[in-house]
Amino acid sequence: MANLPFSSSTTEIPQVGDTPRHVAIIMDGNGRWARKRLMPRVAGHSRGVEAVRGTIRACIDRGIPYLTLFAFSSENWRRPADEVSFLMQLFLRSLQKEIERMHANNIRFRVVGDLSRFEGALVRLIRDAEALTAGNSALVVTIAANYGGRWDILQAVDKMLAAEPEKRSGFSEENLAEHLALAYGPEPDLFIRTGGEQRISNFLLWQLAYSELYFTDTLWPDFDDGELQKAIAWYRGRERRFGRTSEQLSDKTQKSSGNA
Ligand code: IPE
Ligand code: IPE
Ligand code: MG
Repeated sequence: MANLPFSSSTTEIPQVGDTPRHVAIIMDGNGRWARKRLMPRVAGHSRGVEAVRGTIRACIDRGIPYLTLFAFSSENWRRPADEVSFLMQLFLRSLQKEIERMHANNIRFRVVGDLSRFEGALVRLIRDAEALTAGNSALVVTIAANYGGRWDILQAVDKMLAAEPEKRSGFSEENLAEHLALAYGPEPDLFIRTGGEQRISNFLLWQLAYSELYFTDTLWPDFDDGELQKAIAWYRGRERRFGRTSEQLSDKTQKSSGNA
């Protein structure tokens, strides 16, 4: 626990408010958005950057402190080489273009994922952007790039074992969670996937344990503040029980018991 700034949904019942503290989004449907317009798939990725900009703005306006965006999965290398290289270039160019503006807007920028396969120039840009914005506090924007939930758990296990080389067993959830790539933020309250598919696609496997899962047919380039508002309205209608019964939640006199 000691090293984690936020509680775990499985070991403690989290505080739940009307505004999600952390929204995590699988930005899907760029290719279909472009195809519907008889444009090449990559045109959809370019338009997707606009939707990212709008969503960041919307999160600041709505007082959401953490936004995590799945930009490139560990399985997306399986795509045609020209699409992969377009996405890498787009990431590089967008970062070059946006980072000063993000900094001016008090946004803290982070990237999670296995950066070892990225070109040196891109990795340097990412690290510089993270350092530049490290003291900002309006919103933490995390881009998941070459990210996979399984990769994340495995790298955390490696770090957990290295931290206590003599220990062989008896680790706690917190021991592992503190080494996850997103350990600096709370678990997502609200998960959104655009593009109509209802799957996790190896996104935040550990952290989504008790997230509310929202799926919309809206394609990512069409996602905007209005779409975010719909997702948040839906989120507000959820009863987050974390293992308890509905009656326990409605009985205000009853203390929530039995953490863990
Ligand atoms: C999501 O859009 C963007 C990335 C995975 C990089 P897609 O490119 O998967 O779009 P669809 O699903 O083919 O429409
Ligand atoms: C998930 O989208 C990854 C990102 C949005 C970055 P995909 O389009 O790659 O997912 P699958 O392959 O349809 O599950
Ligand atoms: Mg897709």
